[in-house]
Amino acid sequence: MYPVLITSPRLGLREFTPDDVDALTDIYGDPRVVEHMSFEPRDRDQVETTISNVTAAARVEPRTEYSLAAVLPSGHLAAFARLAIDTQHPGQSSGQLGFALRADLWGQGLGSEVVRLLLRLGFDELGLYRLWGARGPDNQPSARVMTKLGMIEEGRIRGHINVGGRWRDSVVHSILEPEWHRA
Ligand SMILES: CC(C)(COP(=O)(O)OP(=O)(O)OC[C@H]1O[C@@H](n2cnc3c(N)ncnc32)[C@H](O)[C@@H]1OP(=O)(O)O)[C@@H](O)C(=O)NCCC(=O)NCCS
Repeated sequence: MYPVLITSPRLGLREFTPDDVDALTDIYGDPRVVEHMSFEPRDRDQVETTISNVTAAARVEPRTEYSLAAVLPSGHLAAFARLAIDTQHPGQSSGQLGFALRADLWGQGLGSEVVRLLLRLGFDELGLYRLWGARGPDNQPSARVMTKLGMIEEGRIRGHINVGGRWRDSVVHSILEPEWHRA
């Protein structure tokens, strides 16, 4: 599916373009945003590489990477939103979600709106059966967002990622398509 364009009352999901580098640096360069994520703050050059990778991946067929810009009605970038279809078991139908909202927008329900848009993309547009997310054990805002959208906490992956030379566990949340459509 290309290009993606899905909207909700306060946000729209669209493809990234090279013009998003500065706005994404405001998100990925912010230590508060990446505190619980799998990487350290990125500078402008690193974000330029990220955008070039995600725009290239968006054109691969069949598409498995949906790294998308969540934008406000003003057009300003609010969040990085990602759905990556799992490829370890071809023919299976699951995808992992990732999301990072600009810090000055936290606490207004926008993070939940981003994840709801990703669930719509995964279930309603791509026809996936299982969507899951992995958060840092101390990431309470992420836990709250996923739980309130029906993503059940299902377990802990020990030593899942290494950030800054330290191994960290992840807590996995998931939701299945029938649960989404019953919600
Ligand atoms: C996680 C994130 C997207 C949440 O965005 P947000 O817009 O602030 O979340 P919302 O306003 O939709 O709030 C969702 C819930 O989380 C709760 N919440 C928000 N911040 C919280 C905090 N610091 N501690 C506990 N709960 C918190 C809210 O009260 C709300 O719960 P409620 O609906 O029951 O009141 C945002 O904090 C973020 O981008 N963090 C950095 C990146 C990140 O950690 N991404 C997730 C990787 S797994």
